[in-house]
Amino acid sequence: MTHVTYHKPVLLNEAIRFLVTDPDGIYVDGTLGGGGHSALLMEELSEKGRLYGIDQDDDAIRHASERFAGESRITLIRGNFGYMDVLLPKEVSGRLQGILLDLGVSSHQIDEPERGFSFQKDGPLDMRMGELQDTTAAKIVNEYEYEQLRDLFFEYGEERESARIARAIMRDRPLETTGELRDTVASAVPERFLNKSLARIFQALRIAVNSELNMLKRVLEKGTDMLCEDGRFVVITYHSLEDRLCKNYFRYGNFEGKPVKDFYGNAISPLSPLNRKVVTAPDSEVAVNPRARSAKLRAAEKLPVGESSEGGTDQPSTGINGGGP
Ligand SMILES: C[S@@+](CC[C@H](N)C(=O)[O-])C[C@H]1O[C@@H](n2cnc3c(N)ncnc32)[C@H](O)[C@@H]1O
Repeated sequence: MTHVTYHKPVLLNEAIRFLVTDPDGIYVDGTLGGGGHSALLMEELSEKGRLYGIDQDDDAIRHASERFAGESRITLIRGNFGYMDVLLPKEVSGRLQGILLDLGVSSHQIDEPERGFSFQKDGPLDMRMGELQDTTAAKIVNEYEYEQLRDLFFEYGEERESARIARAIMRDRPLETTGELRDTVASAVPERFLNKSLARIFQALRIAVNSELNMLKRVLEKGTDMLCEDGRFVVITYHSLEDRLCKNYFRYGNFEGKPVKDFYGNAISPLSPLNRKVVTAPDSEVAVNPRARSAKLRAAEKLPVGESSEGGTDQPSTGINGGGP
């Protein structure tokens, strides 16, 4: 399998430009996928530089071990980035120069019908990104109570017709395949909204199956602890729930977006955002890679202990789309 068919990386140059500040540094790519970002990252590293590539999907690790065969600067680790603190050797803690996350699923995962991620292909209602997850989309669809389904679709899918869709599922279940779920959703929403509703319902189920938001929160906290002073966090998100968590954490050091001030009124946050305006893909990239349309990149730098983040946010952004808030 070629790298391009596995996954076409999104915001490739932008991400690496934000991430790499020291060619001798130690970096983590928490979402290895097809290795597109990792490959460019390694081009920027010296012989001393090191990269840990993490993915919870066996296919990604297998593909990367072929792609990077004979490359001694990279170490591949199968596991959930949420447990980065446990997966990485203890001695790198506090020494990481940069962490990259390019969230969500790869094209390879979407393209394999038996993974159950796509409503355009018929397959089992699975949606696990790795075999370590103990639930599947089928379990959720067939075992949740009506209220749980409704709230899941509303919260994780931001779907307005969540009640009607949950009722239709209760009526039609058991549902075993993505095709059956698609037909059930189609019976509950007007045809002109169907694709959008399907995208939201599949997103909600995927988030729940893989505990995506909890893992993102955990990696933001643990990863920040593991960065060195001036180390950078770069995250590419694909929907507003993920983006909001990153935006709040990078600005305020918490997920609620509440400014926390010390005794002198200085903001307390471990990170300082590097781009106040989110970086999005140019039209030329979206034209050749539709997945880039919803991508948003945020980057932040770790502050020295005890330093306020307010100074950081007032600096002109080093971002490609730098500028006002
Ligand atoms: C969008 S793809 C990354 C593509 C990659 N940047 C490239 O250039 O090919 C996301 C990858 O992250 C993995 N992934 C998503 N969430 C993860 C998590 N919590 N822990 C580990 N891997 C995860 C998925 O299995 C998938 O392979």
